[in-house]
Amino acid sequence: MERSSVWLATAERPRLATLMTGPQADHAVDVAVVGGGIVGLTTALLAQRRGLRVTVLEAATVGAGTTGYSTGKVTAQHGLIYADLVQRHGEAKARQYAEAMRAGVEQVADLVSELKISCDLTRAPALAYTQLPEQRSRIEDEARAAARLGLPARLTDSTDLPFDVEAAVAFDDQIHFHPSRYLAGLADAFIAAGGEIFEDTRVTAIDEQRDRTVELTTPTGTVVAKQVVVASLLPPGLLGGYFARTRPSRSYGLAVRLRDPAPTSMAIRVDTPGRSTRPWLDPGPNGLIVVGNGHETGAEPETEAMYADLEGWARTTFDVEAIDYRWSSQDYFTPDRLPYVGYPPTSDAILVATGFQKWGLNIGTVAAMVLADLLARKDNPWLPVFDASRIGDVRSVGKLIKDNLKVGQELIAGRRHDPDARPASELRPGEGGLVDIDGHTVGGYRDPAGVLHTVSARCSHLGCPLHWNQAETSWDCTCHGSRFSPDGSILDGPAVGPLARPEVNEPDLG
Ligand SMILES: Cc1cc2nc3c(=O)[nH]c(=O)nc-3n(C[C@H](O)[C@H](O)[C@H](O)COP(=O)(O)OP(=O)(O)OC[C@H]3O[C@@H](n4cnc5c(N)ncnc54)[C@H](O)[C@@H]3O)c2cc1C
Ligand code: FES
Repeated sequence: MERSSVWLATAERPRLATLMTGPQADHAVDVAVVGGGIVGLTTALLAQRRGLRVTVLEAATVGAGTTGYSTGKVTAQHGLIYADLVQRHGEAKARQYAEAMRAGVEQVADLVSELKISCDLTRAPALAYTQLPEQRSRIEDEARAAARLGLPARLTDSTDLPFDVEAAVAFDDQIHFHPSRYLAGLADAFIAAGGEIFEDTRVTAIDEQRDRTVELTTPTGTVVAKQVVVASLLPPGLLGGYFARTRPSRSYGLAVRLRDPAPTSMAIRVDTPGRSTRPWLDPGPNGLIVVGNGHETGAEPETEAMYADLEGWARTTFDVEAIDYRWSSQDYFTPDRLPYVGYPPTSDAILVATGFQKWGLNIGTVAAMVLADLLARKDNPWLPVFDASRIGDVRSVGKLIKDNLKVGQELIAGRRHDPDARPASELRPGEGGLVDIDGHTVGGYRDPAGVLHTVSARCSHLGCPLHWNQAETSWDCTCHGSRFSPDGSILDGPAVGPLARPEVNEPDLG
């Protein structure tokens, strides 16, 4: 089994150049987009079509973020959400959300057809189901609310899944696709029309200047833009305080070959633990993608067990011939179930889009439609729904306070010497964890060749303690989801600098 996203492993793209500017040669553009995921590339393309000169700065490679590790469903069905949105935000706002999400699905279909992108786009029903009788009423409420809001929703208990469901809400005519091939198509079209994408170009600072331009700093150059779109899943550093208004959550994925044809529907179980499935077309009709076991980043000590549990479910539910790929990834949740899209509280030159709650292929496309209008100084009717400067109602503020108390507790815990830290000599090859070096706790990882790699066990974002993730060999931060490789380089999250690497002289282990 390959430890890689099935999508990234099966979509070849040439590497693009890194930004290189001389000291006197800032790169000046109308719009700089930070991040080459679905939000960044869709925004870049749509803004370019409105006559703007756009540059994309991507820390790694196009699609290397969550988009390339997603399930690849593009649907207005976001688990169960519409009955809740009506209750929390009122029918008018919920209706606008529904209308925007329907338009987002069709925007993807339109781009694929217009740009002739080969990304296996397939129409299929999306099902959200329960297997528990006590949850039936939630499904009924959702089907009723979604249909009232104009969505193609129907209640059913008949599905093509190989088990009985208590009830399901079906949205007809939704989409699944190959997300990395889709992004490759967007990138090619954007570049062919004169756009620039720089890879391996991490933005480390975003500063508004006195002349109202915005300067973006990267290790290899500077870009000056009239407007900036921050499409990096979560804005870096402290920008807009979004790190404190969202929670990071990971999920696990498998690409599976069955002995029989897989269900052709896309399905998601709303009971815990969650299970999401959809066809995987590359190996033919027997391919299936299985995703689930979500948990807050850094909060699950047994990450290998998450894969084993998901695999166990796949094997007991379907007739599995082989599992070819496994991967995991993360996204950010907001306290009121709406994303933040638009201007942060203190800027009219910087735009953000974050908080997609594991539905950002759809919501992120909608975000790009909104952002492209704002960049062209046009009104967008959906902007108030996603208002990026909102604090939220009493319920969401309560949730924010609770989340941030948890972060505070982590920070306090991080100040102590960790009593569980082991002598470094106890780490076996391939193993990582907190180790004690001369009375100090540091993060240690012994690579398969036996070499010990040590890093600070505190996050470079705001100093929370890091947790070892054995399944991904990474250091993960529960506070706001930053993640680091064993050598301290950034993998995810709002951190802009690598982890400190304390000098450790390990005695000869013989
Ligand atoms: C397991 C899983 C399954 C999912 N499945 C689905 C699904 O089926 N359908 C759906 O609608 N949604 C799904 N989602 C959610 C969806 O994938 C995300 O919401 C969406 O991909 C976010 O897109 P993005 O462009 O904002 O972020 P990303 O795709 O993460 O792109 C952000 C990019 O910014 C870059 N970057 C970060 N920091 C910097 C920096 N400082 N400078 C420069 N570049 C930077 C990153 O390298 C990255 O390439 C899923 C999420 C998860 C975790
Ligand atoms: S991500 Fe904020 S402290 Fe680690």
